[in-house]
Amino acid sequence: MKYETLKIETDDRLMTVTIDRPRQLNALSEAVLGEFKALFEEIDSKEGPVGESPLGMILTGEGEKAFVAGADIKGMNEMTPEEGESFAGLGQEVGRLLERAPFPVVACVNGYALGGGCELAMACDFIYATEGAVFGQPEVNLGLIPGFGGLVRLLRYVGPGRAKELIYSGRNIKAEEALSIGLVNKVFPSKARMIEEARKMLELIKTKSPLAVSICKETINSMYGQSVEKALEREKEGFLRVFASDDKREGVRAFVEKRPAVFKGR
Ligand code: CAA
Repeated sequence: MKYETLKIETDDRLMTVTIDRPRQLNALSEAVLGEFKALFEEIDSKEGPVGESPLGMILTGEGEKAFVAGADIKGMNEMTPEEGESFAGLGQEVGRLLERAPFPVVACVNGYALGGGCELAMACDFIYATEGAVFGQPEVNLGLIPGFGGLVRLLRYVGPGRAKELIYSGRNIKAEEALSIGLVNKVFPSKARMIEEARKMLELIKTKSPLAVSICKETINSMYGQSVEKALEREKEGFLRVFASDDKREGVRAFVEKRPAVFKGR
């Protein structure tokens, strides 16, 4: 398959996937999410750009400014609640594909990782970041809630108190703070250095038993209090509720019209 929004490179069974919509700060449109699904189908069937099964993956964003600045807000402006629910379902599905991949996936966060971007990074096995990286779940600014797995995974990364503070306030945090709360594993002075170190780490992991590593991944990911499926289902129900609200209509429209939102709480 020919990819329009993802750049895929493979080298010695390590794959680098770059989200390639820099003018939209690599926002996750339905097209991007659809290409992720297609990529994992090709990985499963060992077709397309993939060939042999990868033994590791680096996920990053094109350019220096953004990893991913969120789900595509302009696309959401036109969506009905039902379309919003299925959009959240698609985003959640991509997160599960990353989480269930039988090889390690490192998120290399260059710049903004907001909303769906932070959620995508958290679906990877661990996160590296540049000094200029910015993380956040700003959905409440739009009258929305995190809907690509953010409520479920931020809680698991940083615990309930920190997750709630970040999600309720929509506050962005810099790489240093993300490191201090355990969201990020390591911070690097440049994108090039970060990718180089992620690659070195994956090269090291590649020397271990791929089966042992994949079983560790599967087992660690299954050790959550409640099943991820159930938790994601509840998150999607919440996303449907906000998607049908006046506050979502106002918040998303205000972003597109480049003005502050005025919320009414309904
Ligand atoms: N969706 C669609 N387009 C986006 C976008 C997004 N999430 N984020 C940025 N863009 C677009 C902007 O609209 C702009 O395009 P135009 O020039 O055509 O208007 C372009 O990318 C550059 O953005 P800015 O001019 O805004 O750049 P900036 O440097 O002034 O600000 C920013 C950068 C702070 C990241 C700002 O773009 C921003 O706040 N983006 C939105 C972040 C956000 O709210 N993300 C959450 C989305 S909701 C979500 O993800 C829901 C979910 O969980 C499923």
